[in-house]
Amino acid sequence: MEGKKTILLAGGLGFIGSHTAVALMEAGYETVIADDLSNSEESVAERIGQITGTKPKLYVCDVADREALRRVFREQEIFGVIHFAGCKAVGESVAQPLRYYRNNLDTTLSLLEVMAEFGCGRFVFSSSATVYGVSEDVPFTEEQATGGCTNPYGWTKYMIEQILRDAAAADPKLSVVLLRYFNPVGAHESGIIGEQPSGVPNNLMPYITQVAQGIRPVLHVFGDDYPTHDGTGVRDYIHVMDLARGHVAAMEHLNGASGSCEAFNLGTGKGYSVLDLVHTFQRVNGVEVPYEIAERRPGDLAVCYANAEKAQEILGWKAEKDIEDMCRDAWQFTQLRASSSSSS
Ligand code: WQD
Repeated sequence: MEGKKTILLAGGLGFIGSHTAVALMEAGYETVIADDLSNSEESVAERIGQITGTKPKLYVCDVADREALRRVFREQEIFGVIHFAGCKAVGESVAQPLRYYRNNLDTTLSLLEVMAEFGCGRFVFSSSATVYGVSEDVPFTEEQATGGCTNPYGWTKYMIEQILRDAAAADPKLSVVLLRYFNPVGAHESGIIGEQPSGVPNNLMPYITQVAQGIRPVLHVFGDDYPTHDGTGVRDYIHVMDLARGHVAAMEHLNGASGSCEAFNLGTGKGYSVLDLVHTFQRVNGVEVPYEIAERRPGDLAVCYANAEKAQEILGWKAEKDIEDMCRDAWQFTQLRASSSSSS
């Protein structure tokens, strides 16, 4: 019998990487994680093991460090790489652009160089709907022009997509899938892994959970005068386990592709407003989320959601979980973490 295929998850202890590790292991892959712990905790590897029965091998290293990567490739037979290693806070990227360009581009270049040295040619990149910039042409399709990003974080995603297209065009042994995520939320159904932002959350769902916990007094709803059904911004929230399964489908698609670089939207194709999410969260979890209307946040779009048909047609993937699952699982994770950290 053929042995299990091993996937390297660069930045695999983070929110999306950790859930993808679980989905890959459930689909019969082995996983190896390289992560520098800059925005993650080592205990996540154990928690992945708690869910799947096997703790992934962890290399604590900077993914931009080629010597450290060579060690991983020497010690493991890597079938494919999924690249999650990157800084991702929009506001911070405006204040520290050089750090964002250095880190996000360097990790990508080092991975590609070391993969070529070791003859590994399957690469999945953690991209973002942010590459569509300020387009108002919703739903977004993959054919739509990219660019016009509103912050350095978004530009790093845009630039890395270009680097990957060029690299795949030059090397027939390299095949790439660009996964453009919409708004990932929720947590694994067990509540054992989930989103753990450090400091004040930038994104809506972790802010809601912290207000529900009483860590923050009130949610500021950024604008209620957008041209949407209730005036608040509309986004395509996607359950992180659906997103994780999208990576498994992408890796399976790469098994046989050659010299290609293809983009796929990972979203549900449905849009919900800030207040839709708040009200659903309150209803399914039976908790209060006090909120007040505040100024619009600079750079925000009124409406952003995916046309997700390409992923369904070509990868055979579609999102299955709904907004209630997302709210329930996010809250379960938050409560379990709160009780385990107070008892430890
Ligand atoms: C969602 C909606 C806000 C917080 C960002 C990045 C994107 C991607 C995901 C990250 C908007 C509103 C939010 C709050 C609010 N990358 N909001 N009060 O802006 O769609 O996408 O995160 O890794 O590149 O741009 O997500 O969760 O920040 O906001 O009213 O306290 O919630 O205005 O309408 P966004 P978000």
